Amino acid sequence: MTDKSANKMWGGRFEVSNDDLMVAINASIGFDKAMAPQDIRGSKAHADMLARQGIISKADAKEIQRGLDQVLAEIAGGTFQFKLALEDIHMNVESRLSELIGPASGRLHTARSRNDQVALDFRLYVRDAVDAIDAALLKLMAALVAKAEAHADVIMPGFTHLQPAQPVTFGHHLLAYVEMLARDRGRFTDARARMNESPLGAAALAGTSFPIDRHMTAEALGFDRPTSNSLDSVADRDFALETLAAMSIAAMHLSRLSEEIVIWMTPQFGFIKLTDRWTTGSSIMPQKRNPDAAELCRAKVGRIAGTFQGLLMVMKGLPLTYSKDMQEDKETTFDAIHNFNVALAAMTGMILDLEPVPAAMHAAAGRGYSTATDLADWLVRELKLPFREAHHVTGSIVKSAETKGLGLEDLPLADMQAVEPRITKAVFSVLSVENSVASRISHGGTAPQNVRKMARAWSKRLEKLRQTS
Ligand code: ARG
Repeated sequence: MTDKSANKMWGGRFEVSNDDLMVAINASIGFDKAMAPQDIRGSKAHADMLARQGIISKADAKEIQRGLDQVLAEIAGGTFQFKLALEDIHMNVESRLSELIGPASGRLHTARSRNDQVALDFRLYVRDAVDAIDAALLKLMAALVAKAEAHADVIMPGFTHLQPAQPVTFGHHLLAYVEMLARDRGRFTDARARMNESPLGAAALAGTSFPIDRHMTAEALGFDRPTSNSLDSVADRDFALETLAAMSIAAMHLSRLSEEIVIWMTPQFGFIKLTDRWTTGSSIMPQKRNPDAAELCRAKVGRIAGTFQGLLMVMKGLPLTYSKDMQEDKETTFDAIHNFNVALAAMTGMILDLEPVPAAMHAAAGRGYSTATDLADWLVRELKLPFREAHHVTGSIVKSAETKGLGLEDLPLADMQAVEPRITKAVFSVLSVENSVASRISHGGTAPQNVRKMARAWSKRLEKLRQTS
């Protein structure tokens, strides 16, 4: 005897209803309801194609379209009742459609399975997310470029090993992140191009005997073409993995910028100021201004790279084609996408908000003998010393300055000549941090004139991209 409470969408041959825990572990509606717009978009394209191919009647297709529009409106309006017993978004939508339009709803699932349906919905969702991420990346890049141009001549220490290395410009430092984000955009764009094939019509796994037109649905849904192998179509989640991988790398970049903001904001550095819009106080220490937003942006890479690893492990070793394991793909991916967007927006806000403290940066840039390389280069250029020897001579001069507690540019010429008699007072022209950065005009170098040129080139490029996107 058939138990009437068995699942009404697939319960035909079931005798008793599911255990409550079976229902609970099986249900994805709690998170896949986020794909409702994509699910309905896909169903409308499918119904339209079925009618054009004469597989269902035009009248039924019209009813289906009307019903789906209403379902979408109910979901958008918050009046839709999601039911756990209906497992997922696909069956929740279809069941409500049947309440609204009756028997015609039963024709929508012709030549389709939840396997190609979920592959389609998830792909559309990820593709939408990639488009939104791209726009957010462009905004962050524009904020960085504007700050870089405004502070093209602000001098700060450049670090290696977080030890003062050579003076650089703040604008140059910010433009380094623009380069990273540009590569990130490239990775998302590449992933998007590969994911832009429609799996709809692969049906359960083998294709269908109905005379469907997969090119028609692919085009209607903005895909370049339909996928070529029905098994791969329902088994593939590369598009999510690639997006998560691109997101992990981009989140890693955000974490490095975040870390620098955290360091620059410490009283010990004092390189930048963030207003109260982007800092928080302590409940016990009244003097505190904590960079919580930067710290959280720094942390997001953990969650995002964890999601990438998690999905990679879910997919590892799965036999073709669909297995329910793959339902584990969505919840964490949605979470990663959401958190990445929050981090991008917060970082953009912080970049627009922050102001450098040029005096503090300048003072730090001069400390730690940061122009020692300029001195060595001068010895090579003017005295024709081999670089290795110049390096050695400079080392001795730095040592004597250190012993006297002086900076290089304050060390008397006599002390330098004690190490290398041919040094003249002309050497002082290369020892200031201003001259040091101004001299670095090699392609990609830190000189303010380079920075201004690069910032302007980026502005133009971003402006053009904004117009075309
Ligand atoms: N909720 C399912 C998922 O997210 C939809 C596909 C179900 N397919 C199936 N053959 N049970 O993966």
